[in-house]
Amino acid sequence: MARRKKVYEGKAKILYEGPEPGTLIQYYKDDGRAGATPPQAAVEGKGVLNNRLSEFFMSGLNSIGVPTHFIRRLNMREQLVRMAEIVPLEVVVRNFAAGELSTRLGIPEGTALPRPIVEYYFKDEKLGDPMVAEEHIIAFGWASQQDLDDIVALALRVNDFLSGVMMGIGIRLADFRLEVGRIWEGDFMRLIVADEISPDSCRLWDTRGTEAPDREGVTREPGPLADVYTELARRLGVLPSNV
Ligand code: C5P
Repeated sequence: MARRKKVYEGKAKILYEGPEPGTLIQYYKDDGRAGATPPQAAVEGKGVLNNRLSEFFMSGLNSIGVPTHFIRRLNMREQLVRMAEIVPLEVVVRNFAAGELSTRLGIPEGTALPRPIVEYYFKDEKLGDPMVAEEHIIAFGWASQQDLDDIVALALRVNDFLSGVMMGIGIRLADFRLEVGRIWEGDFMRLIVADEISPDSCRLWDTRGTEAPDREGVTREPGPLADVYTELARRLGVLPSNV
């Protein structure tokens, strides 16, 4: 492989300079996501599956007019993406109580929320990605009020799309995390979905077999999707033949 310049290396991905100006190559590793609690171990073949899964979701979003950084998949572990200036926020959309929300507010895991809730966390690993309010974001100049209005609209469109796709394959999208980037088209700034959309950024519950009792007469509650990378790729029909 030709030598190329590494732009950034995170726990689960590496970014290299792309072939054309304004592009990057995003390489998917098998390592767990940074900052995950409990820490995520490496899963063999995860990078290959996340590359496919993120391609599936990002190209679906592109095709319904929700802009993303995704251009095309290059090979098993790499995709070509647009270079964007990353907004230093993790945007979390929640449909069902779980994780941080349940811990912080004491709402039992699995409770349906009355409407999707959008939250912001400041991207700073040393600080543990603390939750922040719009007031902090605007006061510290991380995004403008207009950006935040656009980010909420973008996040809710992504939520509708992902929830619908997941529902069709028997999966409940409890919550997920988005990264948003800015790109300039002439003088016009546009916010786009960046990073990845994969099981590493989504909380997915299996609803298959929950409607009716199984053969033993037991009705299962939605629980985490087992073997999440392979099972999601299998249900979506994007499982590579050699994984
Ligand atoms: O832990 P918490 O309940 O806040 O996670 C909400 C959602 O955001 C989960 O789907 C989790 O996978 C995702 N997340 C993430 N990256 C982080 C923190 C959370 O992808 N650094």
